[in-house]
Amino acid sequence: MNILLLDDDPTNVALLAHLLDGVPNVVLTEFTDPMRALEWCRTEQPDLLLIDYMMPQMDGLQFLSLFRQLPGQATTPLIMITAAAETALRNSALQMSATDFLAKPVNRAELRARVGNMLALRKNQLELIAQAEVLAEQVKNASKEIERRDLESIRYLSLAAQCRDEETGGHLLRMATYAHLIATELGLSEEECAIVRDAAPLHDIGKVGIPDRILLKRGRLDDDEMAIMRTHPALGAAILSGGTSPLLRAAASIALSHHERYDGSGYPSGTRGEDIPLYARIISVADVFDALTTARPYKQAWELERAMLFLQEGAGSHFDPLCVEVFLKNRESVGQICQRLRDEITAVDELPH
Ligand code: C2E
Ligand code: SIN
Ligand code: SIN
Ligand code: FE
Ligand code: FE
Repeated sequence: MNILLLDDDPTNVALLAHLLDGVPNVVLTEFTDPMRALEWCRTEQPDLLLIDYMMPQMDGLQFLSLFRQLPGQATTPLIMITAAAETALRNSALQMSATDFLAKPVNRAELRARVGNMLALRKNQLELIAQAEVLAEQVKNASKEIERRDLESIRYLSLAAQCRDEETGGHLLRMATYAHLIATELGLSEEECAIVRDAAPLHDIGKVGIPDRILLKRGRLDDDEMAIMRTHPALGAAILSGGTSPLLRAAASIALSHHERYDGSGYPSGTRGEDIPLYARIISVADVFDALTTARPYKQAWELERAMLFLQEGAGSHFDPLCVEVFLKNRESVGQICQRLRDEITAVDELPH
C-alpha cells in the first residue's frame, strides 16, 4: 500500500514517517510541495493520503479539491491533519470528501489505528474495483455475443429472401464484397466498412413481399408490375425498422434507399445527391454492377467491361460519382472478386461475414 505524506514542514513529514515506522506492507512517499504531490498522483496511485491543512502554497482544502478531480482519485482515502478542531473546516472538508481527520499534535496510537482502518477501507475499494472490471469484461463479451447473433439472424433472413428469388448466395456475397471495397476506398472506418458489408445482403429483403408472378417473371415487367416491384425498398425498410443495433439500422436505411439515384430520378422518394444515405449510394453501385454481370430470369449476364462502362456513364446521374470512381479505380480487384465468387456458393457459412 502506497501512503502519501504531505506537509510543508519537512520536520512534520519526518515525524509522521517516524510514527508510521514498522506498519507492515506500506511504502511511504513524502512531499513538502503540494504541486509536486499532485503531479505525482497523476501517474502513481496512492492508497492513502495524509495531508496537512495549513500550508502556505495551497491549503489542504484546495489540495483536496484538485486531487479529487484527478482520474481515479474520487474515493481514494485521505486523512486531513488540522491543528485546530474547527467544526466549520471539518464540515467543508467532509463535503469535499476527505475521509477522516486527525488533530495536531498527532498521537502515535491514534495515527496508526486510523491508518489501519483507512487501509482496510482501501483494500475493500480495490476489491470492488477489480470486481467491476470483471463485470465490465463480462458485459463486453455479452455484447459481442449479441452482435454475433445479430449477424446470424441477418444471414438467415437473407437466405429466406433468396429462397423465392433466383438470386444466389453468390450475388449477395459478391455485392457485399464490392460494397466493402468501395467503403474501404472511400476511407470509411473499419467498423463502418464492416457494417456496410454485413448489412448489404438485406438490401432486397423487401422482395419477399412481391408476388411470384412478378418476382419470377421470365421477361420484362410491364408498368403495373414494375410499380409493384418498386414497393420492395419500403417493404424491406418496414421489415427491418424494428431493429435497434447499428447493423440493423444501417440495413433498414440501405433497404429503403438503394434504388434512389444521384440525380433524384430514383425511387421511392426521389432523394438526390448526398441526401441519399452514403451506405445506400455505395450499395447501389455494388448491386447494379452485380445485377448486370449476372444472368437473371429476365436477362443475360453482361461482360464486365460493358457493366463498368454502364457505371461510368451513370456516374453523377444514376450513381454517386465518387463511389463509381473508387470502384473503377480498382477494376482488377473487382475482376478478381467476380471470378473468385462465381456462383457455386450457397451454404449459409459462406454468406458474407
Ligand atoms: P435486380 O435484378 O437486383 O436489379 C437491381 C438493379 O440493377 C435494377 O434496379 C437496375 O437498376 C439494374 N439492372 C439490373 N438488370 C439490368 C439491365 O438489364 N439493364 C439495366 N440498364 N439495368 C439493370 P431496378 O430497375 O429498379 O429493378 C429492381 C428489381 O426489379 C430488379 O432487381 C429485379 O428484381 C426487378 N426487375 C427489374 N426489371 C425487371 C424485368 O424486366 N423483369 C423482371 N422479371 N424483373 C425485373
Ligand atoms: C431495367 O429496367 O432493367 C433497368 C433500367 C434502369 O437501369 O433503370
Ligand atoms: C446510413 O444512414 O445508412 C448511412 C450514414 C451516412 O450517410 O453516412
Ligand atoms: Fe433492390
Ligand atoms: Fe440485388
